[in-house]
Amino acid sequence: MLGYRGAREGGMGVKKPCVYEACVLTDTKLIGCTVEKIECFLEQHIILAEEDFFDVKVILNELLMNAMTHGNKQHKNKKVYIKVDISEKNQIYIIIEDEGEGMKDDCASWRDNNFSQTPQWDIVNLKESGRGLGIISCLCDSITRNEKGNKITVLKRIQNEHNSV
Ligand SMILES: Nc1ncnc2c1ncn2[C@@H]1O[C@H](COP(=O)(O)OP(=O)(O)OP(=O)(O)O)[C@@H](O)[C@H]1O
Ligand SMILES: [Mg+2]
Repeated sequence: MLGYRGAREGGMGVKKPCVYEACVLTDTKLIGCTVEKIECFLEQHIILAEEDFFDVKVILNELLMNAMTHGNKQHKNKKVYIKVDISEKNQIYIIIEDEGEGMKDDCASWRDNNFSQTPQWDIVNLKESGRGLGIISCLCDSITRNEKGNKITVLKRIQNEHNSV
C-alpha cells in the first residue's frame, strides 16, 4: 500500500468516519492485501450481510485487476486510487481510478453490457476473458465511468438499512 489517507467523517448525519481513501502502486500481488484492508474498514463501519460482503470483494478484485492490467498496463510506478464511501447508510460507492489512457469509447465489453439489466450468461460459449465488467454489473446497482474511461464508479446498495456499527 503506497498511501492511505485514512477514513474521514461522512455526511448525511453519519457521525463516524465513513470514507476510505488509499493509493496503491501497480502490482497485482498487492490486490489481495488491499482488498483485505478495505474489508477491515467495512467491518468497522457497517454491518454487511455475508452475500453483500462477498459481492463487494469480487467487485473490488475485478476493478483493481482491470485498473492495473488494462489501465496502468502493469507499469509498476503507476498508481491506482481507491475510494470507498459508505457515508449514506444503505449504499456503498466504490471508485477506482488508474493512471492509464482510459477505456476506449468503442470498448465492446462496456457497450455490450446493458448495465440496467442482469446480463444473460451463455454458459456454453462463455469466454475466458471479458467477463469482469459483466460480473460487476450483476453484483452492483450501477456502474459508471468518467469520460476518459480511467475512473469507474460502482454503487452497491446493501440489504439492511440499519447498518451503522
Ligand atoms: N481501467 C481500464 N482501463 C482501460 N481499459 C479497461 C479498463 N477496465 C476495462 N477495460 C477494457 O474493458 C475490457 C473488458 O474488461 P473486463 O473486465 O470485462 O474483461 P477482461 O479484463 O478483458 O477479462 P476478465 O475480467 O474476464 O479477466 C478490457 O479488456 C479492456 O479493454
Ligand atoms: Mg477484467
